[in-house]
Amino acid sequence: MVIAIDGPAGAGKSTVARGVAEALGFTYLDSGAMYRCVALAALEAGVGLEDADGLGELAEALRIELEGPAVRLDRRDVSAAIREPEVSAAASLVSVHPRVREAMVSRQRELIDAGDYVAEGRDIGTVVSPDSPLKVFLTASEAERARRRAEQSGGDAAGVLAGIRSRDERDSAREHGALRAADDAVPIDTTGLTAAQVVDRVVELARERGLP
Ligand code: DC
Repeated sequence: MVIAIDGPAGAGKSTVARGVAEALGFTYLDSGAMYRCVALAALEAGVGLEDADGLGELAEALRIELEGPAVRLDRRDVSAAIREPEVSAAASLVSVHPRVREAMVSRQRELIDAGDYVAEGRDIGTVVSPDSPLKVFLTASEAERARRRAEQSGGDAAGVLAGIRSRDERDSAREHGALRAADDAVPIDTTGLTAAQVVDRVVELARERGLP
């Protein structure tokens, strides 16, 4: 079973999903980390970011392990490498390809079917688990999202803003698994709220729905 938390870059998904998972005793699933692994592997192997078949094959063959905050790609710890700006941009490019998405979505479904998860991403409520009993769509103002990302990565706010703008545009416009709120998702604007306030709100929604 999964609580789905979707939304654009910098809306607070990771912090909130981790907090909700901890509060409810569920496992946290960072679906973006999976696309980031495909991107890193493609950059390292020299597979073109527009090579749909090459990327599909690569994605199907990768061994991706998510254990707490650690992300391992073919047994190597890539937790830091996948957060580099070059990998962020490449992740948004590789994730447009349907074969890459199918490979990642089926892995995500396997995990979710075997336990209780709080999963964050772009298409958890719409594609990965349309039957999820609680879907949340987090948003925040563009300025707030850029500020948060700049704080995390140490980059300048204007550069970070340009990066998240182009990623969000691509993530929203793609044909498969686009960034979109499910019709039955609960929207939460996190601008001006602390992470703890948002976690409390989602936990309250979960309890109202009899979860876990
Ligand atoms: O959540 P994130 O910033 O780590 O995601 C990195 C990229 O991966 C994002 O730009 C789009 C892609 N992604 C996706 O297509 N579907 C998801 N469920 C999660 C991420």
